Amino acid sequence: MNQSRRSFLASMAVAATLPHTSFAEADPALRPATALAHDPLRPQFHLLPARNWMNDPNGPIFWKGKYHMFFQYNPGGAIWGDMHWAHAVSEDMIHWRHLPVALAPTPGGPDADGVFSGTAFVQDGRVGMMFTGVRKPTPEEAAHRGSSLIESQCIAMADNDDLTSFTKVKDAVIPAPPPQLQTNGFRDPSPWKQGDWWYTPIASGIAGTGGSILLYRSRDLRQWEFVHTFAQRQQSFEAYTPWDVWECPEFFALGNRHVLIYSTYGKAFWQTGHFDAERLLFHPEREGILDYGSFYAPKTQLDAHGNRILWGWIQESRSSAEYDAAGWSGMMSLPRVLTMADDGTLRYRVADEALALRKQERSAVGANAATVKLSDCCGEATYRVRRGDKALRLVLRGDRTSDIWMTVSYDPKHSGQIQLDYRPFETSSTGTSEIRLHVDGSLVEVIVDGQIAWSHRFYYKGAQQAALLQWEGDAASLLEAKWWQMEPISADRLTT
Ligand code: FRU
Repeated sequence: MNQSRRSFLASMAVAATLPHTSFAEADPALRPATALAHDPLRPQFHLLPARNWMNDPNGPIFWKGKYHMFFQYNPGGAIWGDMHWAHAVSEDMIHWRHLPVALAPTPGGPDADGVFSGTAFVQDGRVGMMFTGVRKPTPEEAAHRGSSLIESQCIAMADNDDLTSFTKVKDAVIPAPPPQLQTNGFRDPSPWKQGDWWYTPIASGIAGTGGSILLYRSRDLRQWEFVHTFAQRQQSFEAYTPWDVWECPEFFALGNRHVLIYSTYGKAFWQTGHFDAERLLFHPEREGILDYGSFYAPKTQLDAHGNRILWGWIQESRSSAEYDAAGWSGMMSLPRVLTMADDGTLRYRVADEALALRKQERSAVGANAATVKLSDCCGEATYRVRRGDKALRLVLRGDRTSDIWMTVSYDPKHSGQIQLDYRPFETSSTGTSEIRLHVDGSLVEVIVDGQIAWSHRFYYKGAQQAALLQWEGDAASLLEAKWWQMEPISADRLTT
């Protein structure tokens, strides 16, 4: 989450419904849909709501032949607050139709002041959602424990297979964190089933230690018991603030190992290792960052073929005043297929369903690919390059201004590295690298060698620009470039 939202959630000192601070834009009706539909910074093939703020993907599920995506959404404006679950449905994880809000706060309920993040499960042939409800404390509670919002774990069961109507279990199923722990943060359940038991990790932080993940178990998803602290910040993890929470944890098997993901300090982290299912202990062996850019609070699901799909919230990197004025904030990443490499590190590739958007294929080699143009900033490009003894540099910029939006480079003095905006990242691929870029509105999603992911935002003022990819490195080292325009997923930029 960005810093202001982080400190807000950390202090939890005010109600979830933030006052809408912008002036002329305060009434959404003053921000006509046409302005949003033509805002060149809005994407054309990434999912986002027609207007307003969104954050974490919630409860993605492939159900009865359709993909359902839910996400944190503020129906009242383009800043974080008053969390609801928006809902969209798709046949292919790429083309989406927006449906009415799926979960809204229930007055008087444990989620009276916000429906926070959560996860889908299937119980007795019915889809359910386990999520965090937040509410303001009563005056007695406030006197006792301060004015922080009260977080508890809740359940809603779908009433139909379209997942358009849910009935909530009235009371929270896990009303409070274990009393013996001095926790800070208690949210984002992500249940899985193993044998007769359901388990869920819950995001937390422990005073003096930092980010922690609590493990609970249940036989019926209604009565839960605390098992133990499943994962925790190690001293080696330098960053620490007293309000640190390891948000949005998720735990799943992948290949011959298990994976734990969680988000903190504006980044989404992974750990892989072995799970002792008997003692419910995870032994991580490798760790890393899922995406080095504006990518947070990811959530996974299985697709129709059993692939593990990773979705992330692509945050804005401009100021809240700017996105508030624009009337929208955030989008969903493209779906990424996650796989396990032999050495226990993760591999990512944009799901093949996105290939259907490609049109006007072009390809060139060496100097003939000196400038690649993606009209309307709506395209994809792949570069196969030799990492030899020559320096390489690929620059992304607009066609109207001299602004440089992003640079991928290689320095032969560090032959095992690729640099993204001059930050070095190790790659295990030997000799050549593959750089895949999806450019959409104000976002470029870059994946290098299937192992370094970077979602980078760029902003410009004025009319629509084309994106130019300029090869400034050694021409002979550019083995092949291929590029495509992408077909927008809707008639305008409202993605409905
Ligand atoms: C992560 C997060 C979650 C929380 C949600 C609230 O971005 O802070 O921990 O459930 O967002 O919107």
